[in-house]
Amino acid sequence: MTIRRAHITGWGKYVPEKVITNHDLAQMVDTSDEWITERTGIKERHVRGDNDTTTSMAVAAARQALDVAGLTPDELHLIIVANSSPDYLLPSPANFIQHELGARCPAFTIAAGCSGWVYGLSTANQFIQTGAYENVLVIGVEIISYALDYTDRTTCVLFGDAAAAVVVQPATDGSGLLTFELGSDGSLAHNLWVPGGGTVNPVSQTVVDNREHYIRMNGQEVARFAIRKLVSCLQSVTERAGMSLADLDLIIPHQANLRIIETAAKYLNLPMDKFFVNLHKYGNTSAASIPLALVEAIEQGRVKPGDTIGLVAFGSGLSWAGAVVQMGVRETAAAPVNGNGHVKVPV
Ligand code: UT7
Repeated sequence: MTIRRAHITGWGKYVPEKVITNHDLAQMVDTSDEWITERTGIKERHVRGDNDTTTSMAVAAARQALDVAGLTPDELHLIIVANSSPDYLLPSPANFIQHELGARCPAFTIAAGCSGWVYGLSTANQFIQTGAYENVLVIGVEIISYALDYTDRTTCVLFGDAAAAVVVQPATDGSGLLTFELGSDGSLAHNLWVPGGGTVNPVSQTVVDNREHYIRMNGQEVARFAIRKLVSCLQSVTERAGMSLADLDLIIPHQANLRIIETAAKYLNLPMDKFFVNLHKYGNTSAASIPLALVEAIEQGRVKPGDTIGLVAFGSGLSWAGAVVQMGVRETAAAPVNGNGHVKVPV
């Protein structure tokens, strides 16, 4: 019997128009294009415009994903949103997104920082494997710029805003999400956090004066953790899939810092062209980072029908998450023509 797995049948993205370059940031804090480029690989990042909300960005990405999958919102059985920058503290952004999309299904949010979307994909896989649901939307969306202290050069240069979404449906050909690993080490939580605004330290004038409503990060500690987890998590998800790293056609790591990815590649003894990188354009978009990279990899033809992809994320928590996903194959007439009027696209 073929195991029923979640496979990706639709994808979409939304990136706000407004761009902040490294040169722009150098006008705001004591930094430079050279420092940011050399230490992170980031050249620019997009940040929300006046009309962008967490909901509107997620809905724009979701509509594209539904279009590609050939589904209407009322055919959805579940919406999972990975997010740590909600429009409001209550209710969860998933509810606003569900309403705005015109869907009638259950919807909930996963707050697992930059690992959240891989957590979401793995969660969707459970509902599909049990037979509970067929059509699940998994969105990663962040307006992380709202939590950035633009007087703190150690954090404000790193992040950007974006949304990306996939539709997952049961695979009928053995493809889909083959293995996953989810992890959390809460003993490291204070290395990447927002100290004010929660129940322990509620919003107050003091919180605002101390800028405790913004992200604080111990960059070096997070970087060490990130390299460790990129290496060990990728190894464990591929091993569990009965594969070696060489069997992966492409690895899509969390897009936080090029140096982190390069160092992990060295430890893994893999060439950099195995890794998809788009962080130079977007910076770290947290929960949107991996789905945004996946969507771009598909659009650029870096992910092809039948390809096996490694996904690996790390972030606040500190958390990590990895997966091996095998893309299916579908003949379609909707995409650019290749002679016989059909083209093979990943599904
Ligand atoms: O999704 C997870 C999110 N977080 C991450 O992925 C963060 C992981 N960590 C990192 O990416 C890196 O640690 C950073 C990019 C944050 C920092 O790079 P680093 O090579 O670890 O630099 P550092 O923290 O060791 O700082 C070196 C110097 C310091 O100055 P001193 O003390 O040597 O005089 C910093 O104050 O660089 C200074 N510095 C900057 N200088 C110019 C820190 N940020 C900046 C900046 N511009 N933006």
